[in-house]
Amino acid sequence: MKIIEELNNKFKKSKPEEVLEYFLNDVKNNVALSSSFGAEDQVLTHMMLKISKDANIFTLDTGRLPYETYNVMDETNLKYNIKVQVYFPKYENIEELYNTQGVNGFYESIENRKNCCYVRKIEPLRRALKNVDIWITGLRAEQSITRKELKIFEYDKANGIIKLNPLINFTEEQVWDYILKNSVPINKLHSQGYPSIGCAPCTRAIKEGEDIRSGRWWWENPEHKECGLHQK
Ligand code: ADX
Ligand code: SF4
Repeated sequence: MKIIEELNNKFKKSKPEEVLEYFLNDVKNNVALSSSFGAEDQVLTHMMLKISKDANIFTLDTGRLPYETYNVMDETNLKYNIKVQVYFPKYENIEELYNTQGVNGFYESIENRKNCCYVRKIEPLRRALKNVDIWITGLRAEQSITRKELKIFEYDKANGIIKLNPLINFTEEQVWDYILKNSVPINKLHSQGYPSIGCAPCTRAIKEGEDIRSGRWWWENPEHKECGLHQK
């Protein structure tokens, strides 16, 4: 898509802060960060709020998040004096999911797992992005084989929206440098072997040397390890 190509060329050499500054201050598009309160999203939250106190940040509360994620959510709201906007799944959908595949049906098949991700993440995401022009995410190319080809700007067909991934070329080291230098609040699970954190029943700790997303949906093949939030 032409506009995506142009944006990728324009910001090829820009720092994440410069790209964010452009969208938050210069063009004043309706931009929003989706945050899972993972390390990358916390970096982006800090960067965005430094540029604009009213930056739009939302989270998808699946109802199955780890206790520690709620703690960092609270800590973030308090530290920056904000209220990250929360989108919940529709209760009718959760009841239906429970009636058809049980409470932990996601372990039984990829189809069940995708149904659960749809109800708890994808449908709420659609609502969250309704009036948004540019969707900001904390994706990094290094995170997995499914992400290595991604660019700073992508067109998200599923939601018909431009996606901005300011940290796409950041290394893990750069993320942690920024966190330490800026005293950014982080999820306590990161120091317990969880580089990537999603829902509690679908995330486990990894051992040193293992792939950073290997603790997510660990019972599935790496090619399937996307919940559908991020599609090409
Ligand atoms: S996932 O698709 O496998 O769950 P991952 O945890 O790597 O994604 O996070 C990648 C990006 O997706 C995050 O930086 C964030 O922008 C978005 N994201 C993931 N989970 C959520 C969530 N629960 N709420 C809001 N955004 C999320
Ligand atoms: Fe359901 Fe697991 Fe997907 Fe969370 S990550 S929405 S619990 S299948």
